[in-house]
Amino acid sequence: MENVGGLQDRVNSIVWYHTMDLGNGVVTDGFCKTYLGADHLPDFEAKSVLDIGAWDGYYSFLAERAGASRVVAVDHYAWGVDFAKRNPYWVECHEAGVLPDHSRDTTEFWDPDMPGKRGFDIAHEAYASRVEAVVANFATVDPSSLGTFDVVLFLGVLYHLREPLAALEAVRRLTGGVAVIETEALLIPGRDGWSGLEFTAGCYRGYDYSNWFTPTLEALHEMCRAAGFSRVTTMIGAPSPPSPTTAGPVRQTGDWRSEALRIQRGVRRRVGYALHPPLPVPAPPPEPVHYRALVHAYA
Ligand SMILES: C[S@@+](CC[C@H](N)C(=O)[O-])C[C@H]1O[C@@H](n2cnc3c(N)ncnc32)[C@H](O)[C@@H]1O
Repeated sequence: MENVGGLQDRVNSIVWYHTMDLGNGVVTDGFCKTYLGADHLPDFEAKSVLDIGAWDGYYSFLAERAGASRVVAVDHYAWGVDFAKRNPYWVECHEAGVLPDHSRDTTEFWDPDMPGKRGFDIAHEAYASRVEAVVANFATVDPSSLGTFDVVLFLGVLYHLREPLAALEAVRRLTGGVAVIETEALLIPGRDGWSGLEFTAGCYRGYDYSNWFTPTLEALHEMCRAAGFSRVTTMIGAPSPPSPTTAGPVRQTGDWRSEALRIQRGVRRRVGYALHPPLPVPAPPPEPVHYRALVHAYA
């Protein structure tokens, strides 16, 4: 094991996704700020674990520490895309109001040296870990080459995929016991129980074009069942919709109401009298709420 100063220098030389304590006071400064706790995760003791979309490997190493018999970390996108080169292109697209050409991620922005895997490799070495890293797209990898796992972690990946149902079918093929599925999710207040997907390719967060579909909790359950899971339990569900007094910024209703009144006045002016009493102005539709949902889906 190298000296602490050497490790700290290597840690400082890269951008981290996960915050991890590598020992001897060396802690990575990841930009992911929220983590699942033990109460949301299954027991890893003596289990085989597949961590899909592992990135720096926080959950892979956690499973290993918690006694997993075997841990495989699979990723390719965040490991191979050179974000320092690619992000300015996405900013340009955002400013020009056009959608990016995603195929460039796997051509000119792809770096076979896997710059995004350096964090995983540094942590792997610091922990003297036995976690096995596989560079692959889990959705297209030959399932027989990976096998099946007691626990499959599918955390923060679903909404990044263009074909969410096919992705869940691939997760199902790899799951022998339980799949832990965490995703960006959608709640439309007043439409409880609605099973739908929001399409966000046009980017709803700054210049991040990597989000495709955001499911409601009901859609997530139904997609899991359609993918072949036998039972799905909600571990983190939708938050209570914000009440008018605690809500943050609300949709501006001024334009909505004044437009309705303007049309009514115009009708009156044109025909000289009101055809009927002023129409009631409908309430504005409630703002959708985005949150992170977590389900356990059983094989
Ligand atoms: C938001 S990060 C989540 C990282 C980690 N699972 C967590 O929850 O902290 C999404 C990860 O999914 C990975 N990913 C996206 N599509 C993938 C695919 N088809 N196969 C494997 N990994 C994928 C990305 O490379 C990235 O590491």
